[in-house]
Amino acid sequence: MSVESTNLKVGDPLMVATALERSFVMGDEVVRALRGVDFVICKGEHVAIIGPSGSGKSTLMYVLGCLDTPSGGTYSLADYDVSELNDDELAALRNRYIGFVFQSFNLIPRTTTVDNVALPLRYAGVGVFERRRIAKEALERVGLGHRLDHTPDRLSGGERQRVAIARAIVTKPELLLCDEPTGNLDSRVGGEISKLFEDLNRDLGVTLVIVTHDPAMAKRAQRNIKLVDGSVVYDGAPVEGR
Ligand SMILES: Nc1ncnc2c1ncn2[C@@H]1O[C@H](COP(=O)(O)OP(=O)(O)OP(=O)(O)O)[C@@H](O)[C@H]1O
Ligand SMILES: [Mg+2]
Repeated sequence: MSVESTNLKVGDPLMVATALERSFVMGDEVVRALRGVDFVICKGEHVAIIGPSGSGKSTLMYVLGCLDTPSGGTYSLADYDVSELNDDELAALRNRYIGFVFQSFNLIPRTTTVDNVALPLRYAGVGVFERRRIAKEALERVGLGHRLDHTPDRLSGGERQRVAIARAIVTKPELLLCDEPTGNLDSRVGGEISKLFEDLNRDLGVTLVIVTHDPAMAKRAQRNIKLVDGSVVYDGAPVEGR
């Protein structure tokens, strides 16, 4: 299989989970982290995944991000059924379609912001001058055009997360998967990062799936999917107090 670029339009199904299961065998015990999860997320949507600690949110993100495969049910990303793909094909699918943003920014120390952001392009075989140019553009888009040569230790938490977001969008992915992206930030900076995600969704049409414990962030999404004990207990517009 070669992963071709698709011509998905806003509103076309991008991620389809059907009776999705993920179990972990721990000695004699089986932990059922996902128990029959169903949903369709379309291109251009802004979705927050919410639910208590241990409800399966990160497990779901790993499957959606093709970093892990389901134990049962099916998951398709852009019409590729991930269970039919080998590791190389999954990696190609990830590189082509997905940018990841995590709570811990995962930047490379002693490496400038522009080089951190350019790294995925290096893996994609883009030449050195071109990747610097594209990385600079991505940093300008997240409001860090003036911090190109800083190393991560010289940046604030909010700035580090902006660098991580620039790195996630530098390959122009269809989808951003974010696991508690504001978990290490205070509420003001968290709000700024939420705003940045909204801008990217609106301006680039990138699909957003964001795990969050922050009710303010969940409320800013168009849609909330709530997990409890590995099952979807709510899927709809954000509702106060959920
Ligand atoms: N690799 C693993 N091996 C065994 N059990 C696991 C593994 N990963 C997750 N689990 C279990 O699956 C369940 C769901 O975990 P998960 O990390 O998805 O929860 P979460 O909703 O992301 O929680 P939090 O909000 O605390 O991050 C938990 O009971 C967890 O202990
Ligand atoms: Mg988690």
